[in-house]
Amino acid sequence: MRYPLAIIGAGALGLHFAARLSRSGPIALIARDGNHADALRTGIRVGDALYRADAFASARAPAADWVIVLVKAGDTIGAGRIAAAMRPRGVLSLQNGLTEAMLRAGVGEPSAQRRVAQGITTEGAFRDASGVTPSGAGETLVPPGFEPVVELLLRAGFRARVEPDIVAARLAKLLVNVAINPLAAIFRVSNGSLLEPPYRVYLDALVREAWPVLRAEGLMLDEAAARDRVVAVATATGANRASMLQDVLAGRRTEIDAITGVLLEMAARQGQPVPTHQAVLRLVQLLEPG
Ligand SMILES: NC(=O)c1ccc[n+]([C@@H]2O[C@H](COP(=O)([O-])OP(=O)(O)OC[C@H]3O[C@@H](n4cnc5c(N)ncnc54)[C@H](OP(=O)(O)O)[C@@H]3O)[C@@H](O)[C@H]2O)c1
Repeated sequence: MRYPLAIIGAGALGLHFAARLSRSGPIALIARDGNHADALRTGIRVGDALYRADAFASARAPAADWVIVLVKAGDTIGAGRIAAAMRPRGVLSLQNGLTEAMLRAGVGEPSAQRRVAQGITTEGAFRDASGVTPSGAGETLVPPGFEPVVELLLRAGFRARVEPDIVAARLAKLLVNVAINPLAAIFRVSNGSLLEPPYRVYLDALVREAWPVLRAEGLMLDEAAARDRVVAVATATGANRASMLQDVLAGRRTEIDAITGVLLEMAARQGQPVPTHQAVLRLVQLLEPG
């Protein structure tokens, strides 16, 4: 069978998307191995319902028209190779950080027959011992060319749209991530705490340094708007534990390289100083396993 849509990565967000999409049409969920796929076919709790997934081991992934990648950033190239073997019309990352270059390294360069690009989503979900819990509805923005994916998402009840300036949208999300994620992980505090002393001075410094770098890459926000955006997200997600904090607490590798690491590469190319970001990158790396 050729699926209209598949998701690679049966973690928190992949399961959240797949469970809801399965109610409006077939969706293949690609897990890392056969054991995980078998468990997902038996059923897993997503929200209040049991979801019995059309799950496959990555080595047995079926053909699909469109593939959404929802693995952690460090697994992107491998997921891209799996996606390429599914002979899709397009591969869309909805990961955090900037992962499009890694995705292309795995899938191959985009062509008229195959689109490869990164969108963004503010949907949220987290894993616990008994399954996956959605943590708030958001919006999913995809680059032009992925209209069929938007249709499938809308049909499943997600908020989604094509964003013509996806580069600026990705940079605005990166701005929020470079400011909030590392500090939450280092100080082990919820997002809202970063707006108060003694953390606020670091948050402001990270925004001040990141803004001109991201602006030079296409961010469409002035400095005050950039600061307002970060404050608004930290306020709206005040009680949440950032994903990087969850990774540190669980002893997992973080996505710091695809978030702060990417900003440092941009800054180096531009000759802009970003000393606070260099410091938090090192501190987060020290918290990672190994
Ligand atoms: N969770 C959220 O609320 C949220 C919100 C916005 C964006 N995001 C972004 O979405 C991405 C996924 O996040 P998440 O929270 O869902 O992570 P997660 O819970 O860690 O899930 C990632 C899943 O991908 C699997 N995986 C890794 N390599 C694979 C491969 N080669 N083949 C098949 N499966 C593979 C992992 O399997 P193993 O467990 O075996 O490694 C894991 O089940 C990240 O970039 C994150 O930043 C997440």
